[in-house]
Amino acid sequence: MKTNNKINTKVSIAGLELKNPVLTASGTFGYGLEFEEYMDLNSIGAIIVKGLAIKPVKGNKTPRLVETTAGIINAIGLQNIGVDAFLKDKLPKLKKYKTPIIANIYGTSVEEYIEVADMLEGTDVAAVEVNISCPNVKKGGLAFASDRVAIKGILDGVKRVYKKPVIMKLSPNVGPLEELAKFCEDSGADSLSLINTLVGMKIDIEKKKPCIANIYGGLSGPAIKPVALAFVHKVSKAVKIPIIGIGGIMNWRDAVEFMMAGATAVQIGTANFREPDASQKTAVGIAAYMKKNNIKDVKTIIGSLSC
Ligand SMILES: Cc1cc2nc3c(=O)[nH]c(=O)nc-3n(C[C@H](O)[C@H](O)[C@H](O)COP(=O)(O)O)c2cc1C
Repeated sequence: MKTNNKINTKVSIAGLELKNPVLTASGTFGYGLEFEEYMDLNSIGAIIVKGLAIKPVKGNKTPRLVETTAGIINAIGLQNIGVDAFLKDKLPKLKKYKTPIIANIYGTSVEEYIEVADMLEGTDVAAVEVNISCPNVKKGGLAFASDRVAIKGILDGVKRVYKKPVIMKLSPNVGPLEELAKFCEDSGADSLSLINTLVGMKIDIEKKKPCIANIYGGLSGPAIKPVALAFVHKVSKAVKIPIIGIGGIMNWRDAVEFMMAGATAVQIGTANFREPDASQKTAVGIAAYMKKNNIKDVKTIIGSLSC
């Protein structure tokens, strides 16, 4: 049988047009430039860079990353060069690529989030992704992720100063996530990305010590995929704004699962450590799957799960 091989892999996140639904997850792809020798940065939908704060941050004490049976645990401590250095040293070098750059941002107070977003307004950054999986220093370290007053304050402030799409990145460590997702939508979020890492630990039984200096860290990789998939499916029933699925996506098959569960796009995280071109391979794989199954438009995969 003859098939028409013309396919449309484009998706839109709150008006931001992406050539395909594959993005890189913050913290696993540096500032993008580190990966230009391993893959074609033009081959993916968008690059999400390492979480940016108002000032440079050194991060936690080492050891801060350890392998587990089916993933890794990290407690990097949000090390980054700061938004100023990113705008001066990294963003101009990314300009030669046709791939939108999304800045992941965080702060230790509501005001800091707004300050970072304000600095990104009017730049080539195509959207911001707001990481709320970090402690609010002004509130004694209470996680932003479970604090609705803080979340509303961040969204109101960031949306006031930053005019392009604002993606809220949700933590699986607080619940119920569907209610929080709806709260973010009602508070003005343009899109949601989920999930961030799950709290985990590993012990060295010879030394009787935690393998990570911080004791606990964030678990990512294949181990969290079923959890992330269920969250994406549940949240997609609760909100109308586009969802970006994250968590243990190692290849195009995993990506298709997330899209069938309701994700408009996906992010590749831990897989980048195993295969630095995992995101490119995922984009190529989705297109091949579409051709094989005579799927003309990638958007028809979104939420196509029948149950
Ligand atoms: C080493 C490392 C650093 C990360 N840094 C950030 C970060 O700065 N901001 C953020 O929102 N998420 C960060 N994450 C979380 C990832 O973006 C992603 O949500 C998580 O790893 C789950 O996806 P995965 O299983 O595909 O890795 C980091 C993850 C890892 C492994």
